[in-house]
Amino acid sequence: MSRTVLVTGAAGGIGGAIARRFLAEGADVVLSDRSEAACTALREQLQRPEGVAVVAADVADADSARACVRSAGEHFGGLDVLVNAAGLYPSRPLMEMSDAEWRGVLATNLDGPFALSTEFARTLAAEGRPGAVVNVTSTAGERARRGAAHYCTSKAGLTMLTKALALEFAEYRIRANAVAPGFVEVDSEVNPLGADYVRAVQAGRPWPRPGTPDDVAAAAAYLCSADAEWITGTTVTVDGGAGAGNAALPLA
Ligand SMILES: NC(=O)c1ccc[n+]([C@@H]2O[C@H](COP(=O)([O-])OP(=O)(O)OC[C@H]3O[C@@H](n4cnc5c(N)ncnc54)[C@H](O)[C@@H]3O)[C@@H](O)[C@H]2O)c1
Repeated sequence: MSRTVLVTGAAGGIGGAIARRFLAEGADVVLSDRSEAACTALREQLQRPEGVAVVAADVADADSARACVRSAGEHFGGLDVLVNAAGLYPSRPLMEMSDAEWRGVLATNLDGPFALSTEFARTLAAEGRPGAVVNVTSTAGERARRGAAHYCTSKAGLTMLTKALALEFAEYRIRANAVAPGFVEVDSEVNPLGADYVRAVQAGRPWPRPGTPDDVAAAAAYLCSADAEWITGTTVTVDGGAGAGNAALPLA
């Protein structure tokens, strides 16, 4: 059965990989990001552009986020899956952080998924249509990182929001889960990372290769598959074992 998937942050590394993955599985995909041009450029590269639509939106603006869900639903006869992958992870020490920086990250990473998920659920519930939400959280939602208080807090909040969505949406047969990536390299203009940070974060990972956006996309696809029909309110961590312990420590 053909499904329609709305992916926010689709012009980015992880969102783009998720869009590609669902498209390869035969779904129709609505690409959403702040830049319509970036989504249209991505659409041109995809293997089945006739199964791809573009709806630009700023997820930090609740009206824009809700309008995105409504407009996305018009393209292929209704939505089945929402993936919240849009996100910001700027670095700023707490004592230098302005209110606007704090609010901007919370608005994008937490308020956005709230507006999108609730509009998505209201629409599907009114249509009597089952569905699935996947929120891209982060292992940073479990372990604080210097310079990332706004980011870590937003992802911890999104993890809890995922559980609350699962609880309240279950009676409508709408599931809500999260994928929590560890560090995966993306070529991002929006979220650039320093070389020292990248080296340090890679150092203690047990699994002997770096993670990729496709690893995250595979988990998102599983959570939306028929095999995951009894899975809701949980988080799948995709981090090469980094959360299990620090493999760079010498033997004691
Ligand atoms: N790359 C990693 O190591 C990593 C690890 C854990 C979690 N994540 C999460 O994965 C998601 C994707 O990140 P990525 O690494 O692919 O980064 P990315 O910068 O490549 O992609 C993020 C995308 O979100 C879009 N975006 C930002 N603010 C937006 C807004 N207000 N409205 C609409 N779109 C907006 C950007 O334009 C960009 O295309 C984020 O939620 C991020 O927090 C990434």
